Amino acid sequence: MYSIGVDLGGTKILTGLVDESGVIYKTVECPTAAQQGPDAVIDQLIRSIDEVAGSVERKEICGIGIGAPGPLNPVTGVVLSPPNLPGWDNIPLRQIIEAKCGLPTFLENDANVAALAEHRFGAGRGVEDMVYITVSTGVGAGLILNGRLYGGAGGYAGEVGHTVVDTNGRLCDCGNRGCLEAVASGTAIARKAEQVFQRPMSAKDVAIMAENGSLEAKAILDEAMHYLGMGIVSIVNVFNSSRIVIGGGVSRIGDAMFEPLRHAVRELAFPAPAAMVEIMPAELGLNSGLLGGAALPLAQLAELKKTK
Ligand code: BGC
Ligand code: NA
Ligand code: ZN
Repeated sequence: MYSIGVDLGGTKILTGLVDESGVIYKTVECPTAAQQGPDAVIDQLIRSIDEVAGSVERKEICGIGIGAPGPLNPVTGVVLSPPNLPGWDNIPLRQIIEAKCGLPTFLENDANVAALAEHRFGAGRGVEDMVYITVSTGVGAGLILNGRLYGGAGGYAGEVGHTVVDTNGRLCDCGNRGCLEAVASGTAIARKAEQVFQRPMSAKDVAIMAENGSLEAKAILDEAMHYLGMGIVSIVNVFNSSRIVIGGGVSRIGDAMFEPLRHAVRELAFPAPAAMVEIMPAELGLNSGLLGGAALPLAQLAELKKTK
């Protein structure tokens, strides 16, 4: 049996055909037409799903699992109004995809599905308490507590990207000021660099410049990591996790991220939880969202088999 996993990001959509053991057979990737609004993005999703589904027979696919930026309601399958999907407002995404693609469809927060995948197949294997953090277009988290994904009362738990770390800070796309996402996401790093260097820049450009000795680029990264460090210190104190696993495009900068974050935790978190926590990169790399999405229909399939 196969499953289709979709990682719907603010910047790109990654869709893949996955089997029961987590092997990826085919992927397609396209840049998200986010500025064109929900209809255009939904068309992209349908096309990508059809493309990966085309390589096997329909009856061999048990369903579709989508990880999308929140806030969203995993039970009703409605995407509320994510800061990183402009123009979306209460879109019943699960229902739309299910009707158009004719396969059982699941919807969960992007960081939550990545947390599930890292916990099951990646850097969180073998621990009961971990927090997965994605630093990408946005900043999000998935909380694994006592071995299970914690959704909170409404499935909205884990929105660490919109905790305020600087009350006078930059405006966030959610409307608040000084959210962690507004000062430490890939988008925030790029925006800051554009101000400083007066030309189009990506977070990756900043990382490369910093590595090549630009002090201005290094200062931009250091500032982002300072704020991210504060966020992680709070997570360490609140959850006493065994592992904090960090993924998302920005995590590819490696030591320039992990060193300042480990340092912040050593210096600022309570010594007892700080001594227990490992801060490490996501092991499934940029596939964690896609694999976590694909795991949703597969988990249901396994449940059905058990009750038969
Ligand atoms: C959203 C989160 C999401 C994160 C990463 C944030 O803006 O609020 O739900 O996990 O971006 O996409
Ligand atoms: Na989350
Ligand atoms: Zn915000």
